[in-house]
Amino acid sequence: MNLKARSWLSVVALASALALTACGGGGGGTEGGGGANLNISTAGEALQFAPAALSATAGGQVKVTFKNGSAAQKHNWVLVKGADADAQKVDDAGAAAGEAAGYIPTDPNIVASIKLLNGGETGSTSFAAPAAGNYIFLCTFPGHYVAGMKGTFTVK
Ligand code: CU
Repeated sequence: MNLKARSWLSVVALASALALTACGGGGGGTEGGGGANLNISTAGEALQFAPAALSATAGGQVKVTFKNGSAAQKHNWVLVKGADADAQKVDDAGAAAGEAAGYIPTDPNIVASIKLLNGGETGSTSFAAPAAGNYIFLCTFPGHYVAGMKGTFTVK
C-alpha cells in the first residue's frame, strides 16, 4: 500500500470514529440541559396514575409520555396550576366540554395536557416546566378525578 492510500484510510477511519462519537450521546432516556423525559401510566385498571408524583426543574424542557395501562378505560392527563379547588374546576369544565373535546376544557390554569387515550394507547406532550411550585395532574374523564385519578407535579 502506498503512502497516499494509507493516509486516505486514516482520514476515513477518523471520520467514522467522529460520527460514532457524535451519535453516542443522543440515545439516552434523559435529555441534557435540565430537560427530562417523564413516563407515567395507570395502576392497571385502577383509576390511579402510577407514579402519582412527578418532578421537574423550572424552565427545563419536559416531555411527559402517558401510557394508558387500562384495557377498558379511557384516560387523559392534564397538568393544572393551583390547588385542589382549581383542579376540581378544570375537572368540571372538562366534563362540560364533552368527549369530542377529550374532556379537556380551555382553562388558563392548564399548563399542559395529553389527549384522551383509548385503553393501551400512548400519548405525549412537551413543554417548558413552569415556575417552581406544586402543581396537580389529573384525568378529566368524568368521575375519574373524584375517584382519585390525580397526582402531584413538583417544579424545583
Ligand atoms: Cu381517567
